[in-house]
Amino acid sequence: MSHEVVEKNLGLMIVLIIIAISFGGLVEIVPLFFLKETTQPVEGMTPRTALEVEGRAVYIREGCYNCHSQMIRPFRAETERYGHYSVAGESVWDHPFQWGSKRTGPDLARVGGRYSDDWHRVHLINPRDVVPESNMPAYPWLAENVIDAESTPAKMRALRTVGVPYTDADIAGAAEAVKGKTEMDAMIAYLQGLGTAIKANR
Ligand code: HEC
Repeated sequence: MSHEVVEKNLGLMIVLIIIAISFGGLVEIVPLFFLKETTQPVEGMTPRTALEVEGRAVYIREGCYNCHSQMIRPFRAETERYGHYSVAGESVWDHPFQWGSKRTGPDLARVGGRYSDDWHRVHLINPRDVVPESNMPAYPWLAENVIDAESTPAKMRALRTVGVPYTDADIAGAAEAVKGKTEMDAMIAYLQGLGTAIKANR
């Protein structure tokens, strides 16, 4: 019986398993490269501003993704709490994306506009001042660190290389746009922009 041949020959079985898994993987992955839904930005979405780009860099540096996902799954329990589920078109300009998988804190995919700038400021300096039971760390230095404006154009050029449609004017004005701003300003701008391309139904 041919099946017996496969079962008794470890090398052959390994090869066949690899072929089966690769085929299954390709069938799932390859179409995603060609679907408009996964390659095109959602309608009306604009690239992050220079200040938001800097905020995002701080978000990554501080490891916020270790406790916060940015991926609302299409389940009722999630959409009722966080708003419209995340769609791929919202992430096409995110390099690297911040979907995350650990939710010690709430999902932040649509946190934009949920709180005032002042709330975020107080919360980031000491979360316990607004949410007494919070176990989120405090980030008081964000309010003191000034953005290195000289490096902003390079960040935006790098993003343009991987497909974010920044114009020459965007890049030329980037340093000026963030000059004198603190990392706190940048972080708040970034957070307030999150998930706003699609109106949250909440
Ligand atoms: C150790 C885990 C942890 C880390 C790291 C962390 N957070 Fe949090 N975060 C939480 C928890 C828990 C909450 C819920 C309690 C609260 O609001 O403080 C929260 C709440 C929030 C909220 C309010 C969300 C909402 O919908 O109410 C924002 C905004 C936020 N965090 C931003 C950040 C940012 C920005 C960073 C990085 C600078 C960060 N967090 C790092 C655990 C964390």
